[in-house]
Amino acid sequence: MDKINAVITGIGGYVPEDILSNADICQMVDTTDEWIMTRVGIKERRILKGEGKGTSFMGIRAVNELLKKTNVDPKEIEVLCIATTTADYHFPTTASIIAHNTGCVNAMTFDLQGACAGFLYALENGANYIRSGRYKKVIVVAGDKMTAITNYTDRTTCPLFGDGCGAVLLEPTTEEFGVMDTLLRTDGNGLSHLIMKGGGSAYPASHQTVDNKEHYVFQDGRVVFKYAVSYMADAAAEIAERNHLTRDEISWIVPHQANLRIIDATAKRLGVSMDKVMVNIQRYGNTSAGTIPLCLWEWEKQLKKGDNLILAAFGAGFTWGSVYLKWGYDGDKT
Ligand code: UT7
Repeated sequence: MDKINAVITGIGGYVPEDILSNADICQMVDTTDEWIMTRVGIKERRILKGEGKGTSFMGIRAVNELLKKTNVDPKEIEVLCIATTTADYHFPTTASIIAHNTGCVNAMTFDLQGACAGFLYALENGANYIRSGRYKKVIVVAGDKMTAITNYTDRTTCPLFGDGCGAVLLEPTTEEFGVMDTLLRTDGNGLSHLIMKGGGSAYPASHQTVDNKEHYVFQDGRVVFKYAVSYMADAAAEIAERNHLTRDEISWIVPHQANLRIIDATAKRLGVSMDKVMVNIQRYGNTSAGTIPLCLWEWEKQLKKGDNLILAAFGAGFTWGSVYLKWGYDGDKT
């Protein structure tokens, strides 16, 4: 039997309309546009406003766009999963809400938590369903409503995050396209450096957890930066090397958008110039699991069948990794 590869056959995305600019952030905390631009590279971010709107609100829109662009009947979707750190609720899953609202009524659904590396984890999971031969149509959604867990009195974290969501369709092919190789890693020593401490089973929500602001992201930025730079670049370099990809053969690097300096370091490590690196951090900030699919969504028009893409991400846990994708179609599907 021919080997089955899992290939991305379409992409959808959604970012909210409302913009939070650096000027807005400067009204909230003691910071400057110059600091945010030079240290991180963010100019503005999108924020999801409105009571009761969670991550599923964006996921539903991304999946609806994906189904429309690919002309797929939602009833054919067999698996729908979402990588997110900001689920609508502890339970039920955000994936079940998205499936219900997009007509994916025959799908097995689940949420996956891989923090900022979530899309890579979910992509490998989705690809494995396809590779098994039992599933033909799998949707992988990834995104976060980071503003729901951002403390707008903490200048060390509030300029960083935004909201957004992307979704891809995976289908089988016996050609050499799709998710060609994956490298995923974890180091639990990262726990205390990047965490939302309150509201889980270790520290259930209480007046005290709220008073201590433990329902917000805590990040020891300097430590996370140090690990992110080396682990993300190492993973990307290793996957390029073990697939014998020279710098000229790499069509695009698709990095997690946490800090322009980390993105720069990853590109330098691979010896690839910045014009081959997808960067939209200046407009969207860090949307956690959403960053990589949102890049693919924005660059879809420029992608060609056979392009070699190196995806790389790093996040809480720590979790990180890299994926080698051989792109499966030319240009935009619309
Ligand atoms: O996506 C998941 C993974 N996350 C990441 O990969 C993020 C990794 N970390 C980073 O990107 C960076 O560490 C940050 C952008 C979070 C911070 O940049 P940094 O260059 O590491 O700054 P720092 O934390 O070392 O702070 C430098 C200085 C400090 O002042 P002192 O102690 O040198 O006087 C901070 O108090 O900058 C100060 N500072 C600010 N100043 C103006 C921190 N935040 C701000 C701010 N505006 N918003």
